Amino acid sequence: MKNKIGTMILAAAAVAATGVFAKDDAEAALKARLPEIFAKAADHYRALDAAATPLMKGKVAKMVEGKSDLYVPHGWKDNVGRLDMRSIFWWTSGNFPGSLWYLYKATGDEFFKSRALAWTSILAPNAKVTTSHDFAYVMNCSFGNAKRILGTDRYDALLAETAETLAKRYDPRLGLIRSWGPIGDKKHFLVIPDNLMLLELLEVVSKMPGGDKRFDEMARSHADMTMKHHFRADGGARHVVDYDQKTLRVQEIRRGQGASCETAWARGQAWAMYGYTMMYRETGDKRYLDFACKLSDYAIGHPNMPSDGVPYWDFGAPGEERDSSAAAVMASALLELAGFVGGEKGAKYRAFAVKQLTTLSSPEYFSEGGEIGHFLLKHGVEHKPAGLKIDTPLDYGDYYYLEALLRLSK
Ligand code: GLY
Repeated sequence: MKNKIGTMILAAAAVAATGVFAKDDAEAALKARLPEIFAKAADHYRALDAAATPLMKGKVAKMVEGKSDLYVPHGWKDNVGRLDMRSIFWWTSGNFPGSLWYLYKATGDEFFKSRALAWTSILAPNAKVTTSHDFAYVMNCSFGNAKRILGTDRYDALLAETAETLAKRYDPRLGLIRSWGPIGDKKHFLVIPDNLMLLELLEVVSKMPGGDKRFDEMARSHADMTMKHHFRADGGARHVVDYDQKTLRVQEIRRGQGASCETAWARGQAWAMYGYTMMYRETGDKRYLDFACKLSDYAIGHPNMPSDGVPYWDFGAPGEERDSSAAAVMASALLELAGFVGGEKGAKYRAFAVKQLTTLSSPEYFSEGGEIGHFLLKHGVEHKPAGLKIDTPLDYGDYYYLEALLRLSK
């Protein structure tokens, strides 16, 4: 794997020399740039790792999830020009190690493997956290990628323990995993479409040798219930749905991170597109495939979707900030979906993903040097209604951007 980028440069040059750009010029042009993009991304992340490593150990932080003195880079504090380090229990702490795994896959450089292992290993305490659903996302992006990329079963027990922990948040009467809030809360049972991303860990664990099939049943039930209650007829996603645990009915819909209850928060839509595509991959259930298409058609055909493919942070907020992280998640989902769907429809999804990745790879979005602490993508929005991290780099934006480029390179 050592000289993977060199091999890719030669392959790209060969494609250019033979003029095989006929089918899709935009795709061929982006593919030809992949070696250069991965090389730049690798340089950025080498610098980011060097800046973050001395900050890995800090003061003991007490979070709802537990105490730890270990930190992972999450973003960049534009106002003070400093890295934003978060506790290992922060919901995105698996994304930086996950990006290092993707860079190892892209470059074959052992440096990224050793740094990915170092940052992944400190996240193990997440396997026991029951206070939110997010720790399963953390574990899948870090240890899950270690398993997939190294092809090892060394982390299976830890991933299985994580699935057991997540199962404690599952209510069999509702058939749903509680996303936010404590397990014992009798008044509220909050579910968000972001939760679909964790179902991958349940599916992975259920397929391990001797894996518990209960986890597959939970994942399917959660996906089915979410399909029923979380989306409007046109395919637009709602963010927070609160269930009444006595009547088993929806008791409230909240805008959450979105602009309103009647619009679609862009990253929530993206999580759902990705989640149902992944559920089709894992289960082969065609309903999930059809639903992923419906959600994707909503997003890419929306009148407020800008022509360059990077959505505003909410589909109901045209003219406001764009969210590069939503575009990256969508692009990765659309590339996988395109492969399942095939034909004209698949080509449409693929072309849209290529457009998004081309925009994200332009100087408008892809950072040069250290302007944003060596993260890759500018212009992400974490939580606009709460005024948190608006127009800024986000670790998960980089992670799905790299994942999507890897999917494109296949
Ligand atoms: N709630 C997870 C996210 O911001 O996407």
